[in-house]
Amino acid sequence: MNRSVKKMALELKRILQKDVTNEEDSLKRPEGGSRKDSLKRPEGGSRKGSLTANEERVLLDVFLSFIILRVLQAKRNNLTENKEDSLTANMEGDLQLFGLQLFGKSGSDSNLLGDYLSGVQFLNRNFDCCYLVDDIKSRITCQTIEKIRDLFQSVKDEDWKKEEIISWSYEYFNEDNLKRPKGGSSKDSLTASKDLKGKNGVISQFYTPKWIVDYLVENTLGKYYTDDKDVDVEDVKIIDPACGCGNFVIGVYDKLREMYQNKGYDDALIPKLIITKNLYGIDIDENAVEITNLLLRLKALEDGAYEKFETNIVAVPGKDSLTANEEGQNEYLKKFEKIGSLMRREDVLSLKESGINDEPLKKALDILSLKYDIVLTNPPYLDSSDYDFELKRYINEDYSEFKKNLYACFIKKSYELVKMDGFVGMITPQTFMFIGSYENIR
Ligand SMILES: C[S@@+](CC[C@H](N)C(=O)[O-])C[C@H]1O[C@@H](n2cnc3c(N)ncnc32)[C@H](O)[C@@H]1O
Repeated sequence: MNRSVKKMALELKRILQKDVTNEEDSLKRPEGGSRKDSLKRPEGGSRKGSLTANEERVLLDVFLSFIILRVLQAKRNNLTENKEDSLTANMEGDLQLFGLQLFGKSGSDSNLLGDYLSGVQFLNRNFDCCYLVDDIKSRITCQTIEKIRDLFQSVKDEDWKKEEIISWSYEYFNEDNLKRPKGGSSKDSLTASKDLKGKNGVISQFYTPKWIVDYLVENTLGKYYTDDKDVDVEDVKIIDPACGCGNFVIGVYDKLREMYQNKGYDDALIPKLIITKNLYGIDIDENAVEITNLLLRLKALEDGAYEKFETNIVAVPGKDSLTANEEGQNEYLKKFEKIGSLMRREDVLSLKESGINDEPLKKALDILSLKYDIVLTNPPYLDSSDYDFELKRYINEDYSEFKKNLYACFIKKSYELVKMDGFVGMITPQTFMFIGSYENIR
């Protein structure tokens, strides 16, 4: 499926780039504003040349909304079949939208725009996406939707039913940004991606294929939690400290559901237990975290749980979004924003104890201060020659023996997160097994 998905995703991005961002005015995030604020169009303001980071953001939101709506449409039977009894009145009304034939229609149709916008509102209401309908409305035309509808036919319906198409599409969207500019060096492409993310080090964003996820889940969780194990399945904690779009989180969800079922749990209770008690994740990319949370909600819906649960999957908060910092906290926050889940335990605990009011930050720190039965991840691979000045400083200070590559730092960090008798499952390059400078890691 990957080849057709990649072609479709790149073409979708091209169509939207041409039709949606081809305007004279730019979308600027107000100083200190949130992701949502960035979608508000400032009065006036012109743009010449390439897309600004904020326009990229709008582009991504529209891009994802189309992909997600198409996946929901393909899955609508799984979502509604035999589930009537457990539907809340609200959700039942919303689910009517799945009957909408946005992508099934043919020829010109003046209702296409209305159908699409209702779909976007549905995503906002039910999946906590924050797509601003008014901004999208002024940029999308029926003709654009018709082009997209035709394009989507290049991917088979059975492939649209696989939710991982969302994370793959996101990867292809980003991979396109990583392409080296004409005549530019590899460093140029790295810089472009850093600008887009506004975070350092997020350039290794290649997600893990399902068969590798399943293999690692089987050989960690599958071996750790056997039927004779003297542990309650509800107490098993699993983290992906660089969770991206949640390929491991979703793979683990499936395995845990099987375990709960084997223990005789009521099917209706299982999604809540998995999402609130077993699964943890953190990443420095807030868009990827949003996708992971959406996929978890989709899983729960397919399993008949319509209530929204607060997950333990969070993005590392940026220091700028925080207010009223106590003396001394700022240095820690700067570091946290830069090195994300590589923040060492002593620093996590010091920051926690310094009194934090900000809820997302508190949650991220809580997650990093726990110990886990299983750590599963495909960490970022970033050579030290690509670290920027600050990242280099922090990594040299905290991971002096592992500093050659970020993946090596993640090996160290994973062992800090796991319990003594727990399991770590990772995908890494082989270099650490052979090269002299990695001797200490071995
Ligand atoms: C190779 S991707 C893997 C994603 C996911 N684990 C998977 O297997 O599909 C690496 C991820 O690491 C994240 N990342 C990079 N540096 C990080 C850091 N310091 N702390 C947390 N996440 C980080 C990136 O945003 C990216 O999502």
